[in-house]
Amino acid sequence: MDIFVDTAHLGHIRTWLAHGVIDGVTTNPSILLAEGTFDLELGARRIAAEAAPLPVSVEVTSDEPDEMLRQAFNIATWGSNVVVKIPIITSTGAPCLRVIKTLEEADIRVNVTACMSFGQVMLAAKVGATYISIFAGRVSDEGHDSARLIQQARGWLDQWNYRSKIIVGSIREVINIQDAALAGAHVITIPPKFLPALIDHRYSRDTVRQFVQDGREAVEQAERLRLRVENAAPSAGR
Ligand code: E4P
Repeated sequence: MDIFVDTAHLGHIRTWLAHGVIDGVTTNPSILLAEGTFDLELGARRIAAEAAPLPVSVEVTSDEPDEMLRQAFNIATWGSNVVVKIPIITSTGAPCLRVIKTLEEADIRVNVTACMSFGQVMLAAKVGATYISIFAGRVSDEGHDSARLIQQARGWLDQWNYRSKIIVGSIREVINIQDAALAGAHVITIPPKFLPALIDHRYSRDTVRQFVQDGREAVEQAERLRLRVENAAPSAGR
């Protein structure tokens, strides 16, 4: 299973890349805006360069399929590791399947975004999407069982040998990460604020503190013993 970081913050990307646990980056227009990145091309190019060769998802900003396609061909030139994010439908419910199919046929990798249902996953897989993003938090906001959706979608993709990979996004709480992992997500994209909580544990810290203290104590005891032996031994030439 891969872990992507869901951010446009270069410092966070650098930090988690250095820890060696990050397999890619996802962004969206809201994330870039929240980061103060108003020049989307410049921001996306910087992130793509920082994370290369790992995949970096960059979303189109148009709500109109023909314009999405035009934008997507341009976005794909911003880095060889750029994956173009295309929503499954427009804001008025028009399917974006033709856009996804055309891009994949042109060897441009697509991350189909804003998926909330099994039907959307099926259709995105049918048109050859490289990634399909299920927004777990938003699915749960609507009162649905996101873990069950992930599990069923993964089972169906495997059953029919689709190559599409499920990215679980919209992580709201640390426990959502475990739930998504156990439900069969191929990838979980995690906001950086949750990553420290994944590794930290109060009892691990207490345990390490005890071992460090006892290790120091052992070294001090060994030193005291060595001095005692040295002092007791008759010195050479006496
Ligand atoms: C995933 O690719 C999206 O960028 C993100 O996870 C959306 O999450 P949100 O529901 O918190 O906006």
